[in-house]
Amino acid sequence: MSEEASVYGVASQITSYQQSALIGTAVEVGLPNALYGSPMTLEQLTAELGTDPRGTMGLLSGLVTFGIINRRDGMFRLTADGELLADDHPESIAMISRKEWFFYKLWANMPEAVRTGHTQTGAWRDRLENDPDQAHDFLRALDDLCRLYGGDLPGLAGLEKGGRLLDVGGGAGSHAANLVKAVRGLEATVLDLPGAEPVLRERHPELDFVAGDIDQPRFGRPEGETWDYILVSNILHDHPADENERIIGEAAGLLAPGGSLVIYEWVIDEGRTSPPGVASFTPMMVIENEGGWTWTENEIGEWIRAAGLTPRPISQGPGPIAVIRAESDPS
Ligand SMILES: C[S@@+](CC[C@H](N)C(=O)[O-])C[C@H]1O[C@@H](n2cnc3c(N)ncnc32)[C@H](O)[C@@H]1O
Repeated sequence: MSEEASVYGVASQITSYQQSALIGTAVEVGLPNALYGSPMTLEQLTAELGTDPRGTMGLLSGLVTFGIINRRDGMFRLTADGELLADDHPESIAMISRKEWFFYKLWANMPEAVRTGHTQTGAWRDRLENDPDQAHDFLRALDDLCRLYGGDLPGLAGLEKGGRLLDVGGGAGSHAANLVKAVRGLEATVLDLPGAEPVLRERHPELDFVAGDIDQPRFGRPEGETWDYILVSNILHDHPADENERIIGEAAGLLAPGGSLVIYEWVIDEGRTSPPGVASFTPMMVIENEGGWTWTENEIGEWIRAAGLTPRPISQGPGPIAVIRAESDPS
């Protein structure tokens, strides 16, 4: 079957980086925060931002084209879309822009990641210790992404009753917080590296936090301690297969009899090219994490079975992230 080439379509894909670059730059130099609720002339804006007039006018020209800024009577103001980039907007997505700006720069190394298969950035532990501001903004962005897209977890997980839940590598606590809101009698504790604690306290102070380490036996939890639910959300894609088998084994070992393992993960089809939301997420995992990958239902199922549990069939909504649950023996 022959297909016609779309030269303008591909040409537009080639230049689509410019839109991301200008939005990332606007947030980086503080432009949306400066203009939020205060339209300004170019002179006022450059004085406020401490930026170059020609450079700033170039940025504004592009942002007008992309629908982020309006110009009226010599004043520049944010459009309704542009206002979403201000930190004080109640539905701000400025943190998501900062996270993506980090990746914008990293993705210039994608050829290296493709040639070598190696990540082009440090692991979470390294980022939390050596660049905590960036790592904290990243965790805030994940919390904002959960607000936008993560609301399906309680429905997909279908937890039947309350109990004690441990959210392993829970970060800002976003997903545990959604479950606690949805399930009466559920209490959640977030386990993460110590450097993540400030963001949990800022975003979800209603949850408990324990410092722990996924790399350690029982994630550092004491012998004999058990949990009714273990949540492993967006963790498996950060690790290679052998690590995931170990992580799921440790999680299973922390379950009380009849307890439930809840995996919330980007699950890819066997051919590894669909669903589109998961397929397009896969290169991000290659560049971000050593051994990072999107996994199939069968691969995750094998790790669960190796841990002595039986996986339920996948529970998938319209979004790209699915739930795979497994219960431990009730006796
Ligand atoms: C991709 S984020 C997922 C966060 C959250 N579970 C979610 O679904 O949004 C990975 C999380 O794992 C945590 N993490 C990474 N390495 C860890 C380790 N060795 N021990 C505990 N947590 C770790 C990070 O700090 C981060 O919060």
